Amino acid sequence: MSNIVIVGTQWGDEGKGKIVDLLSEYADLVARFQGGNNAGHTMVVKGKQFISHLVPSGILQNKICIIGNGLVVDPKVLIEELEYLKNQGILTDPARLLISEKAHVIMPYHKEIDLAREIMKGDKKIGTTGRGIGPAYEDKATRRGIRFVDLIDPEIFNEKLNSLIKEKNFYLKEFLNAKPLNPDVILAEYNKYAEKLAPHVINISVVIDKAIKSGRHVLFEGAQGTHLDIDHGTYPFVTSSNTVSGNACCGVGIGPKEISGVIGIVKAYTTRVGAGPFPTELFDEIGDRIQKKGAEFGATTGRKRRCGWLDLVILRNSVRLNGLTGLTITKLDVLDGMDTLKICTGYKYGNELIEDFPANLNVLGACEPVYETLPGWTEDITNIRKVADLPVNARAYLDRIVALSEVPIDIISVGPGRDETILVNNVFD
Ligand code: GDP
Ligand code: IMO
Ligand code: MG
Repeated sequence: MSNIVIVGTQWGDEGKGKIVDLLSEYADLVARFQGGNNAGHTMVVKGKQFISHLVPSGILQNKICIIGNGLVVDPKVLIEELEYLKNQGILTDPARLLISEKAHVIMPYHKEIDLAREIMKGDKKIGTTGRGIGPAYEDKATRRGIRFVDLIDPEIFNEKLNSLIKEKNFYLKEFLNAKPLNPDVILAEYNKYAEKLAPHVINISVVIDKAIKSGRHVLFEGAQGTHLDIDHGTYPFVTSSNTVSGNACCGVGIGPKEISGVIGIVKAYTTRVGAGPFPTELFDEIGDRIQKKGAEFGATTGRKRRCGWLDLVILRNSVRLNGLTGLTITKLDVLDGMDTLKICTGYKYGNELIEDFPANLNVLGACEPVYETLPGWTEDITNIRKVADLPVNARAYLDRIVALSEVPIDIISVGPGRDETILVNNVFD
């Protein structure tokens, strides 16, 4: 049995897409288990870049790709993504894309509410991606969501939409000062989506169970990052799903005993898009340099990502919350040519040294990072494929991450391309 979960350990955009694409070679099925098209996962193969928002990053390796019940799915975006992949000659067999019948549908009012709420919040906004994620999960939790199994049954869909739309329009118009929506237009539009997507809709729990029983390997692709988790992140500056590895089981419908490993993706420094606390954020030319060299722009919204030093307080938090069995360090090449590097090993709060990530945002806001300084390296490492060939100081930086996190490094990424990678351990062994 070898079924691996991949999660982001920071605030998203750690390079999950690249690593899932790379490891998909050894997997038979690749499943997303949470989130929606707030995600933007980048794969670069033979110099060509693909950004996926909903379709799992196993698609370039021709694997069975699964959209789990834990997702909220915008059918329009999914259809556009599938058409793009077909036109590129990638998705030659549409039967390779499966959608859980229990995945929830993002409706036009979810997007409108998301956007209008952010406007209303002004400078207190979360900085959401505006894709309707929060309002869709809200309806799921209040038992008014529309699932794919409902969408593809015209009678049920019509009934559900009509029972909801009055309230949604009242809220949009009277509270959020936004335009109400026409249910007939939604019905016609969504009936078309239903027709297109119906052939992909299936009980994916059964599919995955059968695959595991017949010895096939499943890769579970997390979206966002551990510190955007609705329970464990910097609440309320988080997304609306559980991003941690435990949710891989719930988000596709399998039991925890099937999971054999959890790989945490760690960017060699830290980034964050949107609002919320970020203790090691840099506001100087070093931060600018990392942002530029790392091309740190959101893959979904194009927003500039905030940049800062590597934070081991949050990495240790991720190790515990996800039960990480291995790490992947990405974007190490971005640190080439820096004189010195810093790793945050703890936070100073008044006279107290805090080693565990605090839940109270006022406490977190008052925390000062405690840094360890390490020497940098001058060499360009993008062409290196063996750990032994890395500059001594790059190895020392990695060794320090292992010592402080107490988790081994399985993979080191030194460029965006699939092959710009140093494989330390085969995680599917
Ligand atoms: P994800 O959301 O975790 O999949 O990450 P994103 O795709 O949003 O952002 C990661 C960005 O870094 C993408 O532009 C990748 O192509 C790029 N990337 C991934 N790994 C590396 C790396 O090792 N070095 C460099 N320079 N870029 C990388
Ligand atoms: P990937 O999978 C980085 C952030 C948003 C915002 C907060 C809530 O590419 O790593 P939402 O639209 O989810 O309600 O926004 O979460 N966010 C991400 N940040 N990477 C992501 O995904 C993100 N998905 C959501 O910027 O701060
Ligand atoms: Mg991303």
